Amino acid sequence: MSTLRAAVLGASGMVGQRFCEMLSDHPYFDLPALYGSEKGGERTVSDVLTIPDSRISEELLSARIMPFDLEAVASEKYDAVFSALPTDVAAASEVELMRRGCRLFTNASPNRMRSDVPLVVPEVNHEHLSMVEGKNGFIVANGNCSSIGLAMGLKPIAALGLRSVVVTTMQALSGAGYPGVPSLDSSANIVPFIDSEEEKMSQEIPKMLGSLEDGSVRRSSVEVSATCTRVPVRDGHMESVTVRVGRETDAAQIAGLFNSFTSLPQRLSLPSAPARPVICRHEKNRPQPLLDVNAGSPERARGMAATVGRIRVEGERVRFIILTHNTIRGAAGGSVLNAEILHSKGVI
Ligand SMILES: NC(=O)c1ccc[n+]([C@@H]2O[C@H](COP(=O)([O-])OP(=O)(O)OC[C@H]3O[C@@H](n4cnc5c(N)ncnc54)[C@H](OP(=O)(O)O)[C@@H]3O)[C@@H](O)[C@H]2O)c1
Repeated sequence: MSTLRAAVLGASGMVGQRFCEMLSDHPYFDLPALYGSEKGGERTVSDVLTIPDSRISEELLSARIMPFDLEAVASEKYDAVFSALPTDVAAASEVELMRRGCRLFTNASPNRMRSDVPLVVPEVNHEHLSMVEGKNGFIVANGNCSSIGLAMGLKPIAALGLRSVVVTTMQALSGAGYPGVPSLDSSANIVPFIDSEEEKMSQEIPKMLGSLEDGSVRRSSVEVSATCTRVPVRDGHMESVTVRVGRETDAAQIAGLFNSFTSLPQRLSLPSAPARPVICRHEKNRPQPLLDVNAGSPERARGMAATVGRIRVEGERVRFIILTHNTIRGAAGGSVLNAEILHSKGVI
């Protein structure tokens, strides 16, 4: 039975539409209230639809998108507010919403590194969510979409010890929002620079992989060196990863660790949890965005699984490719799964 009242901020954008998808006919949430920008005027989700293969329900497709108004959102006392606000708008409003008692699940970057904000990938560091227990208003942040994909690849092998990580990303166009990268820059081209992305990856991974001590996060000492590129792919961030681990290993052990990896969302059988959060492909030419971006089952968890392939190991050096859906696992789906965990704990 639906019991929770939710709102989506930035509902008309690339991430906002994925929120509509993840919240369609959700077993915990009623039909969410939707907010776009003030300039948007009267629109329904159907009027702004830009995501392919959408699973948004007919009821939600015809729902009205209202102009964002901080006072109105704060006074509604929603059980959960999912934010897909642009960086500048989030910087100006999210802390104020938290102060007024909102429970925010955000994809925007400004508050990710605050000491009172957990930066959570559900299967990686769900224990950090305890930082918001007992609080009236709070922010739970998602990381950058590439950081989330990398964290999904590092956590299953973390028991071997993580010394250093070198990563090169091949990031999809939808990662830049809508309309995103100009077509003359993106068509049949690769852009070898995404503003602030490499710095975000280097800072966010140590926080995500950190340990919780006395209610705050002690960051991991792992060093991340990132190169971020934009490629002409619609959805799905692919990452070429080289990790130096703490002891010698082999490809079979690494594949076994990826394939057997599960976490709290799987143990709780949460609605948006993929049965296998990391799927390891043995084919030499996988993962590929065209074939693997929507990995994850059951149907509600489509796009929530990371796909790993091309595992190569030399002593302590482990190399692999990982692919994640940037607007589902790397954004809306991650937030909804965090909210499902907090609902299962009775926090929302
Ligand atoms: N795309 C990704 O893969 C991805 C992944 C992780 C995190 N993120 C982050 O998620 C956020 C949203 O990204 P996106 O890709 O969905 O961007 P987007 O497609 O550009 O959508 C932006 C949304 O914000 C709304 N908006 C714009 N100005 C506003 C204002 N002044 N007040 C209230 N709402 C306003 C827009 O409404 P209108 O339609 O009315 O203009 C739209 O709904 C960003 O912070 C981004 O960095 C994105």
